[in-house]
Amino acid sequence: MTTDIIAIENRHTSGVYHKQKLIFVRGEGACLWDIDGNEYLDCNAGHGVANLGHAHPTISTAIAEQSQQLITLFETFYNDRRSYLLEKLTSLMPGMDRVFLCNSGTESIEAALKFARLSTGRSEIVAAMRGFHGRSFGALSATWNKKYREPFEPLVPGFHHVPYNQIPALEEAITDQTAAVLLEVIQGEGGVYPADPKYLQAARRLCTDRGALLIMDEVQTGFGRTGKMFAIQHHSILPDMLCIAKSLAGGIPAGAVMMTDSVQNLAPGVHGSTFGGNPLACAAALAVLQVFEEQDIPGQAANKGKYLMERLQKISSPLIREVRGMGLMVGIELKRKVSPYLQMLQQHQILALNAGLSTIRLLPPLVINYPQLDRLVDTLAIVLADE
Ligand SMILES: Cc1ncc(COP(=O)(O)O)c(C=O)c1O
Repeated sequence: MTTDIIAIENRHTSGVYHKQKLIFVRGEGACLWDIDGNEYLDCNAGHGVANLGHAHPTISTAIAEQSQQLITLFETFYNDRRSYLLEKLTSLMPGMDRVFLCNSGTESIEAALKFARLSTGRSEIVAAMRGFHGRSFGALSATWNKKYREPFEPLVPGFHHVPYNQIPALEEAITDQTAAVLLEVIQGEGGVYPADPKYLQAARRLCTDRGALLIMDEVQTGFGRTGKMFAIQHHSILPDMLCIAKSLAGGIPAGAVMMTDSVQNLAPGVHGSTFGGNPLACAAALAVLQVFEEQDIPGQAANKGKYLMERLQKISSPLIREVRGMGLMVGIELKRKVSPYLQMLQQHQILALNAGLSTIRLLPPLVINYPQLDRLVDTLAIVLADE
């Protein structure tokens, strides 16, 4: 059975993924179970999607009920679930009253880039080195890593990359041709590097002064991950657009661009999405937001993140260069390549990610409990004990 499943996927998969020989069939909370019934602690959470963990009863009930009412409805028609979601989402980001609904992080970036060009009549985009924004042509053009870009060149013209957290470079790059500056609040894929508050303030000021829009990519940092609903709420600035996705609908594909009144010229027909704002995803997202509110999930992430960080800082290992992050988005930079250590963690039944070549990235469900955090730290201490 196990060999069949692997053989079938290997035969028919596109080939674009590094496959790992694990077959998961069930999840609950912060755990996954493989086909033989072995339990794994999931600090991937589907690359930061399962912020409320797996098989959350409120989400699965909402999905089951909505699936019997109405699954799909193009946004040209009105819908109860969608209207409640729009009202709820916009209440979370005062100043952002309009939302474009789509299906993924990449799509939300793609839409924001188009909206920025449409709104300003300018074509250039400034993004950051080490930034990751997705793999479609626009989002890929904003992404920095050559590994993702080079096979697909030529990309979209007009994109410039500046070093992250360096204000003078940003000052030089933003011109009267700049439609938008696109930044992550914490660079995730690039290595878990938080933005300097002064850098974000400078980005806001420079964009306002020079007539460019500021787009924050919160696809990975959103929905409580860093200890606030959105990571930008740690900083006292309001971007013009906020791109969100991943955990928005608890694992049902969903993305969104939230925007202020400074985004203009969005007339009927300029953009769209067949699945965007479908009632099933909206019902799931409403259930997600209900749980966030009832259980103060961002507050939980802040407290658990502080506990995790304090315990990680105390690990004495010759391999660790730095531990950094915010809330439950944590990077452990090693002096070595991380892949063998991720394999060792896997042998101890803990799943974690890399960020770049040398950083272990932890994105556990925000509902992970303290004994599970202890298990994670104790195992990391064992795995990282020797050079
Ligand atoms: C910061 C950021 N932006 C955009 C994306 C692309 O999102 P998706 O894979 O949902 O298209 C990701 C995915 O990891 C991301 O981390």
